[in-house]
Amino acid sequence: MRSAEATLSEIIGAAGAHVPRLLALVEERLVLLAAGHGPVLAEHAGETIAAGGKRMRPLLVVLAAGPHAGRERELVAAAAAVELIHSATLVHDDVLDGARLRRGAPTVWARAGRDVAVATGDLLFSRAFSELTAVGSLAAVRSLSRATSALAEGELLQRQDAWNGSVAIERYLLRCELKTARLFQAACEMGAQVARLSTSQIAELGGFGRGIGLAFQLLDDVLDVAGPASLTGKHRGTDLLDGTVTLPLILARERDARLAAVDLRTITTPAAAEQLCESIEQTGALRESQARALQIVAEAKLALDGLPLENGQRRALNLVADSVAERTA
Ligand code: IPE
Ligand code: IPE
Ligand code: MG
Ligand code: MG
Repeated sequence: MRSAEATLSEIIGAAGAHVPRLLALVEERLVLLAAGHGPVLAEHAGETIAAGGKRMRPLLVVLAAGPHAGRERELVAAAAAVELIHSATLVHDDVLDGARLRRGAPTVWARAGRDVAVATGDLLFSRAFSELTAVGSLAAVRSLSRATSALAEGELLQRQDAWNGSVAIERYLLRCELKTARLFQAACEMGAQVARLSTSQIAELGGFGRGIGLAFQLLDDVLDVAGPASLTGKHRGTDLLDGTVTLPLILARERDARLAAVDLRTITTPAAAEQLCESIEQTGALRESQARALQIVAEAKLALDGLPLENGQRRALNLVADSVAERTA
């Protein structure tokens, strides 16, 4: 399996030198946008940005725009806005999920408590929409605000379904679509919008993003059970401990009656969660979840075939899809 760095350098090799240059500009913008608004918020927003992350969504914005998009200021703003929305939702998500570790570091919630985490997330949201003004496109505003609403709906659905071991797979997939796939979709749409592609091309690139975003969440849920924290930067079994029922558990319950009988509310310690992760893994449910994700990635890649993309751009987008399929972090 390729390392994340090797894959990124392959993607850049395929797409061209404009990609690392634009991504570096996005980093500069992110640091600048997180600063200001008082020392407390600046510290926590700044640390959230500085902790890194894979920057998948900015990469998609830049790649969807293609090598000849021009309009670099708009592209950088679109990419920064999407990453800020993503960062905001992570800060809030860690409050909702009671998660203590993110990107290998303590979460804002763990460091500074609920109130500061809520305010930090709000600041990141507001900075995202202020950055979006520099894109100068109402279509981009529409794409990003739709995705942001979907995210909130997805998080609510997750809370409604918390602790419900018999949640239907369709409902689980809807949750993944809302909380993750739609932002990937928006990232691709916004890149394509800045590049002034046709309405149908924007929609098709959005569909590609949506597919790989859905697979990305399925694999995130596999990693939550598979770990280890040293690779994922998040504690193993976090989903189980906060009552989030994901595909591996749904499938494992179908395969093993003893697991179907487990009441998630009795899983209250990291050690008990680890043990349940092991039992889920033993049923083969992780392999099956992964297979479903890989199928979704394969379908998303097919959507690229009909698009008139430049060769390097097509290869780079295919590599991003492969990197999602191979994700270990
Ligand atoms: C985490 O997203 C939230 C999910 C949608 C699963 P990432 O895995 O892209 O998080 P970072 O930005 O790389 O930390
Ligand atoms: C994705 O779900 C969260 C958002 C899209 C905000 P998770 O709760 O699985 O994400 P992680 O595992 O905390 O990164
Ligand atoms: Mg979470
Ligand atoms: Mg997760």
